[in-house]
Amino acid sequence: MSIVQTKGITKSYDGFMANKNISFQVDEGEIKAIVGENGAGKTTLMNIIYGLLEPDEGEILIRDKPVAFKSPADAIAHGIGMVHQHFKLVPSLTVCENVLLGIEETRNVKLGKKTLKTPFIDYKKETRRVQEIIDKYGFNLSADTRVRNLSVGAQQKVEILKMLYRDVDIIILDEPTSVLTPQEIRSLFETMRWMKEHGKTILFITHKLKEVMDVSDSVVVIKDGEIVGDMPKAETDEVDIARRMVGRDVLLEVEKSRKKRTEDVLIYEVENLSTVSDRGVEVVKNVSFGVRRGEILGVAGVEGNGQTELLYLLMGLMRATRGRVRFKGKNITNRWPKDIRRLGIGIIPEDRYLHGACKELTIADNIIAGYHNTPELCSWGFLKKKSIEERRDSLIEKFDVRISTKEGLVDSLSGGNTQKLIVAREFHADPDLLIASQPSRGIDVGSIEYMHQSLLDFAARGKAVLLISSELSEVMSLSDRIIVMFRGEIIGELDAAKASREEVGLLMAGIEQKGSASLHG
Ligand SMILES: Nc1ncnc2c1ncn2[C@@H]1O[C@H](COP(=O)(O)OP(=O)(O)OP(=O)(O)O)[C@@H](O)[C@H]1O
Ligand SMILES: [Mg+2]
Repeated sequence: MSIVQTKGITKSYDGFMANKNISFQVDEGEIKAIVGENGAGKTTLMNIIYGLLEPDEGEILIRDKPVAFKSPADAIAHGIGMVHQHFKLVPSLTVCENVLLGIEETRNVKLGKKTLKTPFIDYKKETRRVQEIIDKYGFNLSADTRVRNLSVGAQQKVEILKMLYRDVDIIILDEPTSVLTPQEIRSLFETMRWMKEHGKTILFITHKLKEVMDVSDSVVVIKDGEIVGDMPKAETDEVDIARRMVGRDVLLEVEKSRKKRTEDVLIYEVENLSTVSDRGVEVVKNVSFGVRRGEILGVAGVEGNGQTELLYLLMGLMRATRGRVRFKGKNITNRWPKDIRRLGIGIIPEDRYLHGACKELTIADNIIAGYHNTPELCSWGFLKKKSIEERRDSLIEKFDVRISTKEGLVDSLSGGNTQKLIVAREFHADPDLLIASQPSRGIDVGSIEYMHQSLLDFAARGKAVLLISSELSEVMSLSDRIIVMFRGEIIGELDAAKASREEVGLLMAGIEQKGSASLHG
């Protein structure tokens, strides 16, 4: 039986058609994947089903009855919940408090024959209720933990929990896996299968086609706002889906010629670098490595093993307590981010909205951010509008950033297109060293292919790349050498041409082997 159906949904933003005549249906109890290139209109469509946006045309039917949602509250009342890619949790509150937020039921007291409402919540009872759902779905959480103490994967479970508490039976997950570690993804898929067994219906967006094949029952492919494929999983495969999405054959993994292109010139040297967190814990310990010209050095590791702090140290956002960083022979330890960029180090940060782009500014502002006071863009303290616009237009074209209007704010870009904008800006600056952290997060398969090739070409021109990624296949296929971080330290170093996935995987789990001893520099 169809539980959700859309008929001819159309939505435009100032004349730009984000959804065109979209009709599809979801059967009760199925897991349906929604895939498509960046800017294809996936989030827009899900926001419409969740009542966050109103369609210009078309209708939505829930259990064959037409509905017209004015807000997510209406959608939730009809049993539809959504977990957004960027969580909406309050870190200082507990799991239970976050779940209750917005629908708190307060305690009543009886005074004689009258029942009076009090402003007090029966926390004991609520905590018990929340814990019951946690246990039912095997979430391995405690209702009274503060959200700020939870891992990303656990926070996502709290978001799902919020929906389950509101008793929805259709759950939309927008790119739930893009910020998760492989272990967390496995756990999420278990949750999804478990929810399905409990009669829930799931719609989920992903860019990882392996995940579609792994967990979904059927898949809808959207291209330029239109449906170009809607089929059971059994009738398709990754190659077919990619072809439909992009409109051509896509190389799903780069074929890197393993010819050694590395020159014997060390351009970047990190020596015994250490730092402590706010809580006084040493999160980066004695890290040493070097990057040569022409080389891509991959940093692998399960997220949360010091990679983020290492990146912050190298970006100038955290101070080293010990150790040194040298770039082209110059000591640049603890320099300001501005100086680091000026010296010729480009940075693709891991969190695009935190350190990569500013949503409230225009695309042009973001394209020049960090490079705005160069002579091509600025003279006598005045920005050169024409040059800036030319740069914006050429980068949008070169990196295939899909937008509704060039004049718009970054806020109106889809997640993946924002990421492409940052990648474009950093490549354009043509640094000597590019530090790229999780560069392909949220990007579609076609754009990943282009970005990976750009990274290889960049290195082939004698530039150096430090690639930090929790995506093991990305690190394996692009790097010349791989260092693995575990609990803030470098636990091993491998030659990428010879290393196997298993070897890297064991190191990531903290298991050192013979022969993988460090050969720094
Ligand atoms: N508020 C807005 N104003 C103008 N254009 C918008 C707005 N929101 C989205 N768009 C445009 O609509 C198109 C579809 O965006 P949407 O976020 O649905 O894409 P998506 O398929 O989710 O992409 P991604 O994979 O990158 O998340 C994009 O080209 C985007 O620029
Ligand atoms: Mg999206």
